Amino acid sequence: MTVLTSSTSPLLDARFHQVIAGLDSAHRRPANGGPRNSSERDPHAYIDYGFSIFPEQGDLIYLLCRTIGARRVAEFATSIGMSTLYFAAAMRDNGGGLVIGSELVPEKAAAAQRNLEAAGLLQWTDIRLGDARQTLRNLGGPIDFMLIDGWPGGAGPSLALQVMEIVAPQIRSGGLVMNDNGEADYLDYVRNPANGFRSMSLPLKGGTELSLKL
Ligand SMILES: C[S@@+](CC[C@H](N)C(=O)[O-])C[C@H]1O[C@@H](n2cnc3c(N)ncnc32)[C@H](O)[C@@H]1O
Repeated sequence: MTVLTSSTSPLLDARFHQVIAGLDSAHRRPANGGPRNSSERDPHAYIDYGFSIFPEQGDLIYLLCRTIGARRVAEFATSIGMSTLYFAAAMRDNGGGLVIGSELVPEKAAAAQRNLEAAGLLQWTDIRLGDARQTLRNLGGPIDFMLIDGWPGGAGPSLALQVMEIVAPQIRSGGLVMNDNGEADYLDYVRNPANGFRSMSLPLKGGTELSLKL
């Protein structure tokens, strides 16, 4: 087994890659495509599915967090912890920091904590159980990087936009936001200069929006 020393990045640690490989090979989404293609939208009905980011999106999260020296990051949502693992690796390699996660489904939050523990990265995380529209209301100080990787809601504004409106004032100038699902009202928000972001779409997983807080 590789021993994690103070100079060994988690990205060079077999434990990290074992956990990522396990999550990547596990069922990412159900055969019917999940809540976007089904009338069943209750997150509790999907406890066995991660709906996780792709590893290349995780690599980008890690690279960007290292580049900007991120020490305080947050995510909506955590699920079983794929994105959290990359954030936590960056916090660890930046010399310390905190990943504030959010997850509505207790079984998924518990799975994320087990995965982070298995990778030796739990200590850099604070996964808040409950509705992110409540749990991310007070992030305790400016945030360097935010992931908006949400869930289809009902009628009205997307959850991505609702959470973004709550966290946007808490992101520091020069901070970054990544969005995985390209919700139309969310894209309208970050691409409208009046809202204080500069934004572009990256060709990852069919479109990953990256936005800079001006
Ligand atoms: C796309 S997944 C997140 C994947 C995660 N970023 C990863 O890479 O593994 C979306 C998650 O949002 C959770 N969720 C849905 N509504 C929520 C809410 N209102 N507050 C917090 N979490 C919610 C779902 O249970 C689901 O696990």
